[in-house]
Amino acid sequence: MTGSNGPTLEVIPTIGQLRQRLKRERAAGKRIGLVPTMGYLHAGHLSLVQRAKGECDVVVMSVFVNPLQFGANEDFDRYPRDLARDRALAEEAGVDVLFHPSVEEMYPRGTLTTVRVDERLTGRLCGRSRPGHFDGVATVVSKLFHIVEPDRAYFGQKDAQQLAIIERMVEDLNFPVQVVGCPIVREADGLAMSSRNVYLNEAERRVAPLLYHALCQGKALIEGGEKSPSAVVERVKETISQEPRFRIDYVELLRYPDLEPLETIHGKVILAIAAWLGQTRLIDNVILATDMTEHGAEVSGKREQEEVGVPCCGK
Ligand code: PAJ
Repeated sequence: MTGSNGPTLEVIPTIGQLRQRLKRERAAGKRIGLVPTMGYLHAGHLSLVQRAKGECDVVVMSVFVNPLQFGANEDFDRYPRDLARDRALAEEAGVDVLFHPSVEEMYPRGTLTTVRVDERLTGRLCGRSRPGHFDGVATVVSKLFHIVEPDRAYFGQKDAQQLAIIERMVEDLNFPVQVVGCPIVREADGLAMSSRNVYLNEAERRVAPLLYHALCQGKALIEGGEKSPSAVVERVKETISQEPRFRIDYVELLRYPDLEPLETIHGKVILAIAAWLGQTRLIDNVILATDMTEHGAEVSGKREQEEVGVPCCGK
C-alpha cells in the first residue's frame, strides 16, 4: 500500500462493486468522469480519457460490447475484443476504474424497458440503415449513467449522430451529467480511427482514406461559398465512386445537431458518410459552422470541428 508503483487501474466486473467504489469517491468530493466504450481501444478512445483526466478526479472507462445496439446481421460476434490489451492501454492512459461487465451482468433478465429515440433523430444517417441501433445505444448509455452517476461523460464526434442523440437524451430525460464532445482522431493518412479498421485487408486499408479526402473536398466547396447541399453531396459521391471497392451507404449534409435537412447551406452543418469497403462499414464526418457573422458579413465554411492527427486533406 505504498502507492509507489505508479498508476493502478482497478478492473471491476459488477455493478455492485462499481457502485461501492464510486460511493467512496463521491463522498470524498471527487468529480467522476465516464468514458463509455466497446473496447479494442485506440488513440481516439484514449483522447477522451485525456480530456476526462484534465477535468475530473476519477476517470471510469466502460468496456462493454452492447448486444442491444447490434442488428441481427451485424458484427456483434466478431467485434474485436481483447481485455488484456485494453487494460494495459487504459492503465497507461491513466484510467482509474475499468468497468467490464458481462452481458448477463448488464441484462440479467433481458430488456423489457428501453429508451426509444424519435425518428427525427434516428431516421437519417446511420439510424436509417441500422434500425434500432440508437435505441440500443441510448438504453445502454442511460444504464451506464445510472450505474456510474458521472459528473461528465465523454463522447467522440466520430459518431456525431450518437453524440447528438445522447446530448438530446440528457436534456429530455434530465440526466445530471455534462456531455462533452471530443474531436475526431485520425491516422496520419486521414482515416478516422475505429476499432473496426482491423477488419480491413491491406488493399482496403490503402484506399480507406479516400472517405476523408472526399469529405475535405465537400468542405472546401462549402468554404468556397457553395450553398446547394445536393451539389456538395454529389461531389463527395463522385470522389468516392472513383474507387470501385467502396459501396456508399449514404452521403448526407444536414443541420447539426438536430439533423434537419437543409434547402440551402447555412448555420452549423454536418457532412457525413458511411460506406462499405469489403465487409467493413466505415463512417466519417466533418462539422462546419457557416454564416457566422462578424461585422454583419457572411463567413462561409468557418471550421467548427477540431481535427486531431492530420490537417484537413493532409497528404
Ligand atoms: P466505441 O465505438 O467503442 O466508441 C467509444 C467512444 O469513442 C465513442 O464516444 C466514440 O465516438 C469515440 N471514438 C471512436 N473513434 C474515435 C475517434 N477516431 N476519434 C475520437 N473519438 C472516437 O460508441 C460506442 O463505442 C458505443 O456506441 C457506446 C457509446 C460505448 C455505447 O455502447
